[in-house]
Amino acid sequence: MALLLLLAAVLGAVVVASSLLLRWNEVRYSRRRGLPPGTMGWPLFGETTEFLKQGPSFMKQRRLRYGSLFRTHILGCPTVVCMDPELNRRTLASDGAGFVPGYPQSMLDILGPNNIAAVHGPLHRAMRGAMLALTRPSMIRAALMPKIDAFMRAHLHGWAGRRVDIQEMTKEMALLSALRQIAGISAGPLSDALKAELYTLVLGTFSLPINVPGTNYSKGLQARKKLVAMLRQMILDRRSSGCAQNDMLDALLSGNEGTRAKLSDDQIIDLLITLIYSGYETVSTTSMMAVKYLSDSPKALEQIRKEHLDIRKGKSPEDALHWDDYKSMTFTRAVIYETLRLATVVNGLLRKTTQDVEMNGYVIPKGWRIYVYTREINYDPFLYPDPMVFNPWRWLEKSMETHPHFMLFGGGARMCPGKEVGTVEIATFLHYFVTQYRWEEEGDNTISKFPRVAAPNGLHIRYYNVYKYTMNTRVVSPGYATAISRYNALFIL
Ligand code: HEM
Repeated sequence: MALLLLLAAVLGAVVVASSLLLRWNEVRYSRRRGLPPGTMGWPLFGETTEFLKQGPSFMKQRRLRYGSLFRTHILGCPTVVCMDPELNRRTLASDGAGFVPGYPQSMLDILGPNNIAAVHGPLHRAMRGAMLALTRPSMIRAALMPKIDAFMRAHLHGWAGRRVDIQEMTKEMALLSALRQIAGISAGPLSDALKAELYTLVLGTFSLPINVPGTNYSKGLQARKKLVAMLRQMILDRRSSGCAQNDMLDALLSGNEGTRAKLSDDQIIDLLITLIYSGYETVSTTSMMAVKYLSDSPKALEQIRKEHLDIRKGKSPEDALHWDDYKSMTFTRAVIYETLRLATVVNGLLRKTTQDVEMNGYVIPKGWRIYVYTREINYDPFLYPDPMVFNPWRWLEKSMETHPHFMLFGGGARMCPGKEVGTVEIATFLHYFVTQYRWEEEGDNTISKFPRVAAPNGLHIRYYNVYKYTMNTRVVSPGYATAISRYNALFIL
């Protein structure tokens, strides 16, 4: 009996202590007047566990309870989540006016003091100006497309009969393609060394900033040191060789066409790391998910394959893709946008307030994070009827890309400068993929969509030569088979 009483007393004490702790966090933050409604959870941890466990439903439930603007405490910071498309658009458009990027400390530390998310005002404009000059259409056409084409062609060669984890393969593809564009680096010992450090660096940016040997954060910082040393050496070598390579590094060092906005070597190094980092996950995940959605949608696959076979018609097997070919890929572009939308490769963007900021009549205190949560826009049935269906055809309407709530690449002064380069990379990948191969998924390929889009056990695919497989299985119409056989006569066999 005494034991039971003691147990009850302990349980009671735990319940009281817990509710006091919860209350304490509420009281602590609610002293500020004018905050949006919401709950702050536990001291220190806030509502992070619920957020990570429930994912998108965490947001939806709170929106039902509190409306499209609510407060919470996630990932170590008091945060206001904004799910209102118009307010999100305005927040992104107000870069600098009370808002700066609010990405985690580990990311800022590892990507370096000059990385684009860490700089504001004139330095941001200078770094962004350099990025835009490197990714403008004339640069893509003359310098980047030949590199992307040569890389994709080689990377996708000789897979017939093989079983490949497309997740691993697209990650490697995104990284190596970036290295080729940046400094003309082809597969070999240098790219292997850079690749190993870059993988460690990326992992470090998603970790808690605890600098103790063995943590991902500490390993990420070490990887950064090594990468910086390698890139510095690369700059020295390039300067002393005097040999033009027509890549991004050349453009940055020569200062041609306004690319060198007086950037120091340290700034150039951080800019190169930012370029690789920013395109890595977005390009690889979109490429993987495009393959997945095309596998599940034979009609879309047939149409995209036809678009690419038509492009190859007037070309010899060795002919590269050109800018005009890319511009003619209207359906491919639609597939890429629909993949970005349906998979929601980017859930939202983070900002931090640099002063008290008014939003919809509420006052958000200085130093709070704003989670510009764009995910739900992607599933808005008014904007995208039947939103859970993969329907690339919806993007063939011109106005979709210019809609004010189109935020797949962000918005305002920090809108993605790599939008076109990324789209060219994925389109070129798809070109060689669908014209050379047919494929079948093998094994249990589950896809998780939150907090990041990933295939936890990989996404395994067996490849077949497009011609042989098509002929053996007779899955295409006769007219289409003729087109393929003509193409294969030129290109594959
Ligand atoms: C499908 C591919 C891509 C998607 C979906 C994507 C998406 C985005 C988004 C949503 C932002 C806004 C971030 C924010 O406002 O905080 C952004 C920014 C950025 N992206 Fe991309 N991106 C892609 C490819 C690339 C590529 C290939 C590069 C590099 C060549 C790149 C470089 C950047 C940079 C440097 C920024 C920061 C811009 C600034 O702060 O001014 N992105 N991207």
